Amino acid sequence: RLMQQADVVLYDNLVSKEVLELTRRDARRIYVGKQRANHTLRQEQINALMVELAKQGQRVLRLKGGDPYVFGRGGEEIETLAAAGIRFEVVPGITAANAAAAYAGIPLTHREHAHSCVFVTGHLKDGTMDLDWHGLARPKQTIVIYMGLLGLEALCRQLIAHGLAEDTPAAVVQQATVPQQRVVTGTLRDLAARVAEAGLRPPTLVIVGDVVRLREKLAWYEPQR
Ligand SMILES: C[S@@+](CC[C@H](N)C(=O)[O-])C[C@H]1O[C@@H](n2cnc3c(N)ncnc32)[C@H](O)[C@@H]1O
Repeated sequence: RLMQQADVVLYDNLVSKEVLELTRRDARRIYVGKQRANHTLRQEQINALMVELAKQGQRVLRLKGGDPYVFGRGGEEIETLAAAGIRFEVVPGITAANAAAAYAGIPLTHREHAHSCVFVTGHLKDGTMDLDWHGLARPKQTIVIYMGLLGLEALCRQLIAHGLAEDTPAAVVQQATVPQQRVVTGTLRDLAARVAEAGLRPPTLVIVGDVVRLREKLAWYEPQR
């Protein structure tokens, strides 16, 4: 219903064609996607554009992949609207961690394997990842890493250096939930090499923890077979 009401749609690169097609046919569609090396518009420009369009009296739909408040910069965008006195509504989505867990057969928590789960970003800043490694390398905890493909080798190395066993199970899920989904599993010791060999491409999610073992029994979506 809300998608049909929008006069202007600002959409990201993770929004599929099928979802975009749910917006009104005559709505103006503006691509504002950001990829690693190619930011069409800077975040501040996106924020400013939303405010400008709303002030013109347009109903603006900001269409994002997954959940806007999980590594989606939704918080910053809504803060800008709030500061400008523009009314808004936030519709939650299914974040990639939940989607990948279900479609790869990897429960994020499990009474026997994991009592907590943390989501972090593996995005590299100046070639390194600024993460609380001690906090991550806890027993019975699942770690989900968004944007972790490029730094995968360093990520696995750091987790081992901070106390996780080399044979801790780990997986990379490429393009979860769509026919291009591929899943590579291994351990912290060999995951990076296996993923490089398989040639996985973003978007991918890294899942680390004993729960990855459950995939052997729980995998059901195998589009590439
Ligand atoms: C900028 S974050 C946006 C996350 C989004 N807000 C969410 O809740 O899923 C983009 C990252 O999400 C992850 N991602 C998004 N869609 C994915 C998918 N279908 N399969 C695997 N990872 C995905 C990847 O790590 C990707 O680099």
